[in-house]
Amino acid sequence: MSSAANLGLKDGSLFKTKGLINGEWVGAPSSFAVQNPANGKELGQVADMGVDDTKRAIDAASNALPAWSKTTAKERHDILMKFFKLMTENSEDLGRLITLENGKTLAEGKGENAYSASFLEWFAEEAVRAYGEVLPPMAAGTRGIVIKQPIGVVSILTPWNFPSAMITRKLGAALAAGCTVVIKPATETPFSALALADLAERAGVPKGVINVITTSKHLNDVAKEMCENPIVKKISFTGSTRVAKILAGYASGTLKKMTIEAGGNAPFIVFDDADIDKAVEGAIASKFRATGQTCVCANRFFIQSSIYADFAAKLSAKVSSFVVGDGLDAKTSYGPLIHSNAVAKVDAHVQDAISKGATVLVGGKKLDSIGPNFYAPTVLSDVSSDSQNHSEETFGPLATLTKFETEDEVVNLANNTEVGLAGYFYARDIGRIWRVAEKLEVGMVGVNTGAISAAYAPFGGIKETGFGKEGAHSIDEYMITKSITFGGL
Ligand code: SIN
Repeated sequence: MSSAANLGLKDGSLFKTKGLINGEWVGAPSSFAVQNPANGKELGQVADMGVDDTKRAIDAASNALPAWSKTTAKERHDILMKFFKLMTENSEDLGRLITLENGKTLAEGKGENAYSASFLEWFAEEAVRAYGEVLPPMAAGTRGIVIKQPIGVVSILTPWNFPSAMITRKLGAALAAGCTVVIKPATETPFSALALADLAERAGVPKGVINVITTSKHLNDVAKEMCENPIVKKISFTGSTRVAKILAGYASGTLKKMTIEAGGNAPFIVFDDADIDKAVEGAIASKFRATGQTCVCANRFFIQSSIYADFAAKLSAKVSSFVVGDGLDAKTSYGPLIHSNAVAKVDAHVQDAISKGATVLVGGKKLDSIGPNFYAPTVLSDVSSDSQNHSEETFGPLATLTKFETEDEVVNLANNTEVGLAGYFYARDIGRIWRVAEKLEVGMVGVNTGAISAAYAPFGGIKETGFGKEGAHSIDEYMITKSITFGGL
């Protein structure tokens, strides 16, 4: 078992192995191991909490709600800004923890920490601007207003691909709105969540406002309690569409408000008038970020036939130069996948595409010599649109190239999926840019860029990706509006 010291943290007290309920670090009769995906080594044992702990955490959040919801917006702003500053000051340790438990490179780990902290800064500024409305009088002698109030206790369920940022994107909004929370981080990546909770306490978040339940063998029961418990008024989830449907089922009994950011299957289109070098840069930024394990990663590349060969050659040259390895090694450009199931899925998509006529331009194999969680960054050419990865998110370092002729054809191909989170295209014709941006059935479009994620852009999808936005506009997801009519004036 590791200790904070041999994980290389400067501030060892950020390494927590227990959950947090009402300001107390709480153990459990058993614990589960968290492993470094780069080498399989155990990073530590974490409390395996259950349903009773979850109920206590929800009660603690409920008891903390009256006082927290009555703090002024300025008080919440100041605490969120302090929390933001603490994340920034501890970026070395927080970035390292992300790399250790998720596998992404240290540069990406620190980048995620900065992205994650940016949500706290953004929502600090939103807290003080959560205005209501004054309504036009409905009759003589009346006046009306609309006020906003915190929705109540919020359940936050997050994935392993962004162990920190997916928490603060929800937590920042909830705290700014005056809500209290119970967080269940992914089993694979609890340490970042626990470090965040510790920094939140240091920033002055009162006890009970943030509670964290770490769990492995009770995962489904804990998630069910977080969605069914009548005290909880709002659920915010990021993860797969399959799990989102299960959680929505649990939440339906009490008609809870939900924000769901589930699977994507992003198209990345390059038209013949595009700047090809820029398109290659954008393709790499979008496809290989976090080793291909983001919901907004390009999943299907569509390249217009006249520039297909040029794009394929340039993309392949860049991907061939990637250095795959342990994310803590400064030479590494891309780290491992989260576990061997993820590797198996990438390989299954590669083999399926090859069986339907695709050819391997780069990669196409497991990298067992580095470790069981590594897969070679891969580019496949002539991928058929009935390949498995066209209907299912790969969530790994696989770029599949498919040729197209016309704008209508490619828009139909791009939209031929049940989910709709992100879509990207490169073009210079302004008419085409407007047409395609409006026709893509997604919640977020990147035009001539592969990077679309920022606190100030509303994040979320349509179709079976889910509903509700995160980031900009999302403080309202954590508030209710109430109209108040005054008569007899
Ligand atoms: C995700 O993969 O769910 C989030 C990606 C992002 O915030 O850019």
